[in-house]
Amino acid sequence: MNKHIIVLIAGFIAISAYGELPQADFRVVPLPNTIEKNEKGKSFILTKECGIECGGDTLIARLLADDVEKATGFRLETVRKNVKKNRPYVKFEINNSVKHPEGYEIRVNNKNIIITASTRAGLFYGCKTLFKSLPQIKVDSVEVPAYVISDAPRFSYRGMLLDCGRHFFPVKDVKTFIDMLALHNMNTLHWHLTEDQGWRFEVKKHPVLTEIGSKRRGSEIGWAVGLNDSIPHEGYYSQDDCREIVRYAAERNITVIPEIDIPGHTTSLLACFPELGCTGGPYTVSDHWGVHEDIVCAGNDKTFEILQDVFDEICDVFPSEYINIGGDEAPKTRWEKCPKCQARIEKEGITASDSRTKESALQGWFTRKIEQYLNKKGRKVIGWNEIAETGASATSAIMNRYDSVATANAVREGRDVVVNTSAYCYFDYPQSSDLRLEPKLFPLGETVGLSRVYSLEPVPDGLSEEEKSHILGVQANVWGEFISKLLLVQYQTLPRMAAMSEVQWTESGNKNYKDFLYRLPGMRKVYDTHGYFHKAHFE
Ligand code: ACM
Ligand code: ZN
Repeated sequence: MNKHIIVLIAGFIAISAYGELPQADFRVVPLPNTIEKNEKGKSFILTKECGIECGGDTLIARLLADDVEKATGFRLETVRKNVKKNRPYVKFEINNSVKHPEGYEIRVNNKNIIITASTRAGLFYGCKTLFKSLPQIKVDSVEVPAYVISDAPRFSYRGMLLDCGRHFFPVKDVKTFIDMLALHNMNTLHWHLTEDQGWRFEVKKHPVLTEIGSKRRGSEIGWAVGLNDSIPHEGYYSQDDCREIVRYAAERNITVIPEIDIPGHTTSLLACFPELGCTGGPYTVSDHWGVHEDIVCAGNDKTFEILQDVFDEICDVFPSEYINIGGDEAPKTRWEKCPKCQARIEKEGITASDSRTKESALQGWFTRKIEQYLNKKGRKVIGWNEIAETGASATSAIMNRYDSVATANAVREGRDVVVNTSAYCYFDYPQSSDLRLEPKLFPLGETVGLSRVYSLEPVPDGLSEEEKSHILGVQANVWGEFISKLLLVQYQTLPRMAAMSEVQWTESGNKNYKDFLYRLPGMRKVYDTHGYFHKAHFE
């Protein structure tokens, strides 16, 4: 019998020494790796008289006090050092007894709850587990049973993509999305900032990018049906907004990786700089979805001047190790006919091969040039499968929306990979096969039910340990063609993010879908505590 099932039974038969008090339950989402009874210990009674002794980590203590207050209605006082004798308290300890940089231990006895970690990230996740264990009802006291929880994530990259290119979301909504990530122990926001339909990142050297590129005249209704709502849509993030998002995310152990998608999905850029298109335009910020044939010209040196200016400012604002440069869905029809692109192919000696046309190989050249620029600035690049397909260097990482064969191929080439298989990870696809229950979104996506998300195993069979080490983690995406409101983001992601969080965090031997379903109602009460909209179809 595995450990958490034993705990589950123990949970049922434990008779509270404190009669009717509501109890904390550490079988949260994502499931901690070990939950063991502290045999000699007695329960801790959490009340408003308790304090949080946080040493230097006042911010994490405040976030825990906020969470506990939301869950129970009472607020814990946070102090650097507990001076009141006999006061029960939650205590943070930073030391190296916990090896994993994002791991933590929670040790409960009747005098204190000690959360130990080697970094503030670990403390943060320990606090989230403690908060999620609470019964999420307004009470004066909660009995926290005497357990020892020892936990650490399976993968180092645990992400979600938010598409703010198709629809702009205000800063406060992006922050709520970041809170949702933090609640699921996720540590990376892949922020899709540019699209055919909108350029959302302020570039101070080229204000035209947001003056023109962030506005469109309307949005297609449905997919390829030729109807448009003719309602103007606009919005962009100032660099101050971006810095605020980066700061807010970092407080919650989340790295923001910006995506500037090139060379395709760039109609909004071309609307500002028509000379960067192979035909010279004119172009307008797109008001419809799909793959667009106009992409930036790889033969024009000015393309690289402008893109370097953009990446200079991106790197100023975003401190992430990785910068995402997109690379998906870039048709080569314009490059095939463009004299400048053809001259580039000639000059650089770019040739076709069995696996790619010369125009496709030109995208590889383009990607390597951008990668070199970013490498000089101390950054690594990550992009969609197409960057590998077209010949990016093996030092670039892949966001793999294809299947496990593509993951295996990429790691065998020595590339780092984030698993993003669309059939499990595209949360703009319907949650239910009964489309009467679903909002009308992306019409071509297959059903990505909760059980399917949970069943994702990111590591293909047959890899060596060295190859496995190139699998950085897992990410799910919320593409935004039809998702213009936070409420809809929450409908699409909750509770599928809960299932994803166990793919990302929980050791595979501890994963069990039935057990997850048993724990899910507790997580959904946590969503209620935060006022998040959620609905599960259990497919
Ligand atoms: C993608 O789904 N176009 C990355
Ligand atoms: Zn061209």
